[in-house]
Amino acid sequence: MFDTVPGLIDDVRDRFAHVDHCPEQGPRVFFENAGGALTLKSVVETSTRYAAIPDNQGRDNPMSHTLVAAIKQARADMMTFLNAKEGQVFVGESGTELLFRMISNAVIESPAGGSVIGTTLEHPASRSAAQRWSKIARKEYLSVIHDDATGSVEANAYAALVRPDTRVATIIHTSPVTGMAVDIKAVAQAIRAVAPDCYIIVDGIQHAAHGALDIESYGIDGYAISPYKVFSRHGYGVAWISDRLTALPHDSLIGGPEGNWELGTRDTGAYATLSDVVSYFDWLGGQFSDSEDRRERLEAAAKAIHGHENSLTDAMLHGTGNLKGLADMPEVQIIGGTDNPRREGLVACRVEGRDTAEVIAALRERGIRTHIRRADYYSNNILDPLGLSDCIRVSMCHYNTIGEVSAFLTAFREIVEG
Ligand SMILES: Cc1ncc(COP(=O)(O)O)c(C=O)c1O
Repeated sequence: MFDTVPGLIDDVRDRFAHVDHCPEQGPRVFFENAGGALTLKSVVETSTRYAAIPDNQGRDNPMSHTLVAAIKQARADMMTFLNAKEGQVFVGESGTELLFRMISNAVIESPAGGSVIGTTLEHPASRSAAQRWSKIARKEYLSVIHDDATGSVEANAYAALVRPDTRVATIIHTSPVTGMAVDIKAVAQAIRAVAPDCYIIVDGIQHAAHGALDIESYGIDGYAISPYKVFSRHGYGVAWISDRLTALPHDSLIGGPEGNWELGTRDTGAYATLSDVVSYFDWLGGQFSDSEDRRERLEAAAKAIHGHENSLTDAMLHGTGNLKGLADMPEVQIIGGTDNPRREGLVACRVEGRDTAEVIAALRERGIRTHIRRADYYSNNILDPLGLSDCIRVSMCHYNTIGEVSAFLTAFREIVEG
C-alpha cells in the first residue's frame, strides 16, 4: 500500500532513530518491534528539550503555563488517537502498572461477590492482576480458554463463561506471542449482553503500534498502552479510563482534585512525546487522505499501516521474488496458521529439530534482530498447549521493508537449509 506513494517508505524511515543501524551492533534489520518499537526522532528531540526544564506544573509563571498546556494538548491528542469521546487519559509508571491499577480498583470497588473473567491469551500483566485481586476481593476467577489454532480468542468463548454476576472482565487486544488480534467490540458485546455493568479492561500494549484504535465503538472501561511500543520511549505508561471507572474510589490524595488517577508529579516531556506520536500518525494518514478531519487522517494511517504490514507478513510467509517463504519450508511450524486475517505484523515460528536460541543467534550474526519466546511465565500460556518449549518471534512494523524481509529469508534459509 505504501508503494502507491512514491518515496513514502524512505520518508517514513527517515522519521525514526536507528532504523537500520544499532549503536552497539552496527547495521541490522529490526524485527523486534513487539519488544519495543523504533523511536521517533521527534520524540528524542522533545524528550531532550523537556528534560532540561526545572519548572514544575501548576505555578504562575510562563514556563509552568507552557508545561500545563503541553499536558492538556497531549491528553486531547490521545483522546483523538483512541477515538474516545468520554473518560480521560492519564499516565503512570508502565503499561503493567496501569493494568494492575485499573483492574485492582475495578475488582475491589465493584459490588461485593460475583466473578471476574479473563482469557488464557492474555499477557501475565492483566492475568496476574485479575487473579490476585479477585482472590483478595473473594470473587471467583473464570478463565476463557483461547483457540490454539488461530492464536486468538472468540466472543463466544467469553459468552460461554460470563455470568450476570461477572463484575470485571479483562481482554487482550493483540497477543505479543501469536501476533493475532481479538475482536474487542464483539467480546465486549458478548460480555455486556449478560453482565451489562461489568468493568471491561483491555490490554492494548501490543496492538497500539498498528493504529486503528476506536474506543468509542468498543464499549469498554479501560485501555492500557506502553508508549515505547508505539514510537515514544520507555519510562511511563498511558491509560484511558471511562467516566464510570474514573469515578470509582482509588488511591489519591485526600482533598486532591476529583477524578485524578495520577500519583505525584508527572513528566511533562513524557506527555509531550505522545503529541509527537499522534502527529506522526496524522502526517502518515495525510499521505493517503485529503480529509480536513484529523480523526479521518488517523484512520487512513491505520488502514495504510495494516496494508503494508500485511504485505510484509505475506512476503515472510509465502516468499518474495525467488525466495521461498516460511510457509514453504516443511521444517518450519507457524503458530496461528499461515493465512490468518487477525495477524498484526508478527510471525511466530519454530524450526523442527533445531535449537531455537541457536537459530536466533545465527540470525543475529547475520544482522537480523528477532527474539526468543520461551515457555516461561510470559509465554507458557501460548506455548505449553502447543507442546512447544520456545519459538522465534519475528515482529515487524510499518517502517520495515520487503528488502528487509528478503534479507531475513535469505539468512533464514542459509541457517535452516545450509
Ligand atoms: C501485550 C502486552 N501486555 C503487557 C506488556 C507489559 O508491558 P510493560 O512492560 O511495558 O509494562 C507487554 C510487554 O511486552 C505486552 O506485550
